[in-house]
Amino acid sequence: MDKKKVNISISIKDIKLSSCIMNASGAICTTEKELNDLLKSSSGAIVTKSCTFFPRKGNVKPRYFYCEYGSINSMGLPNLGIDFYLDFLEKNKTEKPIFLSISGLSIEENCFLLKKASLSSKVTAVELNLSCPNILGEEEIIGYDFYKLSYFLKEIFKFYKKPLGLKLPPYFKEIHIKNVAIILNQFPIYFVTCINSIPNGIFVNSTTESVVIYPKKGFGGIGGLSIKPFALANIRLFHLYLRKEISIIGCGGITNGVDIFEHILCGASAVQVGTQFIEEGISIFDRLKKELISILEKKNYSSIDNFKGNLKDLV
Ligand code: DHB
Repeated sequence: MDKKKVNISISIKDIKLSSCIMNASGAICTTEKELNDLLKSSSGAIVTKSCTFFPRKGNVKPRYFYCEYGSINSMGLPNLGIDFYLDFLEKNKTEKPIFLSISGLSIEENCFLLKKASLSSKVTAVELNLSCPNILGEEEIIGYDFYKLSYFLKEIFKFYKKPLGLKLPPYFKEIHIKNVAIILNQFPIYFVTCINSIPNGIFVNSTTESVVIYPKKGFGGIGGLSIKPFALANIRLFHLYLRKEISIIGCGGITNGVDIFEHILCGASAVQVGTQFIEEGISIFDRLKKELISILEKKNYSSIDNFKGNLKDLV
């Protein structure tokens, strides 16, 4: 029988992505060269490094470490400041959607950054980061404070009228996801990205009997392979509880086409790749695209919508 032609493009409301695969914020997307490489790559969109108002050098190195089961980082938001990213976008001539990640250090800073971003016609959407775990002496992660979250969203939508996505932290109880979804469902949010790294992990080097990163006595956000089950569970539950108009971008533990297929089965419309992109480099987008297309061909699916959210229970 003839194989169906496979299409891995998707839409998030009126935003069209030629491929459902993109980088995760923080992964090789800080400098002009890194962003230009992403623009030229086969990723379906690009996400910029979470930015603040002022440029930041970030935490003392070593602040990122990788091993076979995942990564740990405490970068401390090194970024070139929002004006750099807005200026970069002004020069951009491609059609590829660009998600500007914003991670102000307070609600007031985030509101200011959102106002600035909404003046640019080159920002396809803002991905507002509610889950940065690595700021020294930090406030609570906003995504974990449901009162603050609700207050913040009410404030934002008084003035912000452009497409908005939210980068969420991982949740570990169904009731927390249900309650977050009840809040988010009240707002015209385009998408949620789940999950950010799992906060406050430690990797140990048993030879040196020490931690592996310098900041915060070795504590950092965990990404990569070992967080995939938590990403899948968060996607699955947000798919259950969010309004259908809010898309889910899956993020966490993607190393190959099967991982992407699993994220989509749980309910993701698109996916982001962080740790494995850092380790493998820009060619990863060609490889993942090929692998995903080959899986869909074998399974005789012609589009992402054919199987999105269709994960089965055992009966
Ligand atoms: C950083 C880490 C994050 O997980 C995040 O969401 C934003 C910033 C960082 O340490 O730079």
